[in-house]
Amino acid sequence: MKTARPLCVCTVLGTRPELVKLAPLVPRLDAEPGVRHLVLHTGQHYSYEMDAVFFADLGLRAPDVLLHVGSGSHAEQTAKILTGVERALIEHHVDVLVVLGDTNSTLGGALAAAKLGVRVVHVEAGCRSFVRSMPEEINRVLVDHCAALLCAPNEDAQKQLLAEGVAPADIEVVGSTAIDAARTYAGRSLGRPIVDEVLQSLGQKDGRELLVCTVHRAENTTPEVLPELVAGLGRIAERFPIVWPVHPRTRKVMDQLGLRLSPRIKELPPIGYLDMLALLQAARALCTDSGGLQEEAYAVGTPLLVLRHETEWTYLVKAGCAALCGNRGEALAQTALAHLGQDDNDRMREAARRYAEHARDGDAAERITRALRGRFL
Ligand code: UD1
Repeated sequence: MKTARPLCVCTVLGTRPELVKLAPLVPRLDAEPGVRHLVLHTGQHYSYEMDAVFFADLGLRAPDVLLHVGSGSHAEQTAKILTGVERALIEHHVDVLVVLGDTNSTLGGALAAAKLGVRVVHVEAGCRSFVRSMPEEINRVLVDHCAALLCAPNEDAQKQLLAEGVAPADIEVVGSTAIDAARTYAGRSLGRPIVDEVLQSLGQKDGRELLVCTVHRAENTTPEVLPELVAGLGRIAERFPIVWPVHPRTRKVMDQLGLRLSPRIKELPPIGYLDMLALLQAARALCTDSGGLQEEAYAVGTPLLVLRHETEWTYLVKAGCAALCGNRGEALAQTALAHLGQDDNDRMREAARRYAEHARDGDAAERITRALRGRFL
């Protein structure tokens, strides 16, 4: 559709993963002829180590609109995002809104836009864990069904959207911007001092014995599940020491429950993007429940142990570079240790390398920009 004035496109971000995964897209939309591009930061994540360090590491430009929604219950947080985004969309005459993934910022942004008749582009559309009790799953499903352009990362996601009745013409398979970002920044992260510092503090010489771990999901930070996870990770650490940058949500629950980590687990505060990429590249494997980190591990060829019973990134399991280990004490430890033996570890590393040879990775942001141009300019 032709418009007399430039098309106003607004990209909404608010949390760590959105900063990382939208970093490859923001400069492209800034430079797109015929587009006036705004970046709106909801302020869902706000502390230095959850937010500002990512702007610095990624060289991401400052947002044009900043809401200070901060923490709160899901309803409070989403309500503040809804009203704040609505105000900005009206004030700046926004035509198209871009959101990514599954956070409350994604949902609040998409809902505000859809109700105003602003067209929604959903990046990372069609991913499903099929667990409706997860806040992220609700957010993904709702946002997909109010989007005008659904950018699916792969064919599995596309099939899912078709099965849910989305019109084929509204779907574009574009790849994953998490992989664009990891490929771009992996080289820049090499040689960062964090790797030697961590190895030294754990009395290790070789990163290939080290595991990187993160845990933050709501279902993994309940008083029932978190102690099981800590026990399972403690057992794994008897064989392979672990470095664990602890998310604020997880730290809060550990404090409430008085949970202590094994001395073979090195706790860090949340770390920046480049430090995480440096650790990932040095490590034997990543143990995580994070969506974004799963793809980052694959992008740098590091085997992945998922601390859940399901994953939205089923292609990583199918390709053989990821294994589902669950979140329950001894069962988790047994499954993880079985995959950490030298033969299995080599096999998973090789699977990541082989899959990457044939995957269409690394230019998702370019494909999204092209799809947006084709539909709306
Ligand atoms: C959110 C997303 C999740 C994403 C994750 C990445 C939702 C529903 N979930 O979860 O999909 O993978 O971000 O981190 O949107 N906090 C700080 N400093 C901050 C931000 C948060 O201390 O800068 C603390 C707050 O006390 C807050 C808690 O962390 O209560 C959780 O933050 P919240 O934004 O609610 O969700 P996340 O768990 O980060």
